[in-house]
Amino acid sequence: MKTKITELFGIQHPIIQGGMHFVGLAELAAAVSNAGGLGLITGLTLRTPELLAKEIARCRDMTDKPFGVNLTFLPIVNSPDYPGYIRAIIEGGVKAVETAGNNPQKWMPMLHDAGIKVIHKCTSVRHALKAEAIGCDAVSVDGFECGGHPGEDDVPNFILLPRAAESLKIPFVASGGMADGRSLVAALALGADGMNMGTRFIATQEAPVHSNVKQAIVAASELDTRLVMRPLRNTERVLHNAATDRLLAKEAALGAKLKFDDIMEEVAGVYPRIMQLGEMEAGVWSCGMVAGLIHDIPSVKELIDRIMLEANDIIRQRLGSMLAA
Ligand SMILES: Cc1cc2nc3c(=O)[nH]c(=O)nc-3n(C[C@H](O)[C@H](O)[C@H](O)COP(=O)(O)O)c2cc1C
Repeated sequence: MKTKITELFGIQHPIIQGGMHFVGLAELAAAVSNAGGLGLITGLTLRTPELLAKEIARCRDMTDKPFGVNLTFLPIVNSPDYPGYIRAIIEGGVKAVETAGNNPQKWMPMLHDAGIKVIHKCTSVRHALKAEAIGCDAVSVDGFECGGHPGEDDVPNFILLPRAAESLKIPFVASGGMADGRSLVAALALGADGMNMGTRFIATQEAPVHSNVKQAIVAASELDTRLVMRPLRNTERVLHNAATDRLLAKEAALGAKLKFDDIMEEVAGVYPRIMQLGEMEAGVWSCGMVAGLIHDIPSVKELIDRIMLEANDIIRQRLGSMLAA
């Protein structure tokens, strides 16, 4: 399939694997790229720019296809060494960067001078327009359904994507709730040039996480996510577990007085315990409503091939036959 996104990133299929803390390591990024999509290493999961440089080199050993790096600009107390991370990306010869969180304007000249294409992930049309205005090459439009941080506007993709299509000149991918060929065709119909998946890629053979995490996604339904940290205006969609209940009880009890310090136990440093050790109740972790559509743990290649076959079938057979009738 050829779209503005496949052309922009030099990939075969219009499918991107979004950055995911402690999931988006070289194994997954390389598997996605080898299967014809765009895999992304999650920059901040590597604690230092030196470790990111090594991860980029490791990924390059596993694939000769294009892959990228996610750089998340989040309100973290001790700001990471962003210039160092960007140097590692440039020196590593990476040609695609997914930015997320805050506005990446400050870093655009460095990235573009190095020939890097920038796709900014955002959750509203106004932020997508801002990304376009500062020179981003594409945006990833993350609807309210998404795993991770859906923003504070709560607009689902059935509205958000066509609104983005009405407003943007640069290409965009649909993100949040995407799982299969149906998602891809729907995304294209709503004006996107591809799709970005997070949660779906965790439940794959190559995702370098504990099997408990994959099983939890397969077991979950679309009713099993919760929104946490809303009072801090840092809303995150996470899988429902005991830590989620504890956190929500604190939010209810403290109301407007809630501070980040109050919920440290549930959110700080929990990803390695969950993703690597499989301690599923250790804290809250991002998961999309799309868990309800995830019923198996295929290899990345099986997943992507299946998506493309299904999308083809829907376009040519199902939709095509409706027109012919
Ligand atoms: C476990 C997990 C961790 C994530 N970590 C990040 C991250 O570090 N940076 C980021 O930009 N997005 C992160 N995301 C969001 C994804 O990149 C993607 O936008 C989102 O998962 C799309 O929604 P979906 O899960 O419905 O596919 C994360 C998502 C999940 C599920």
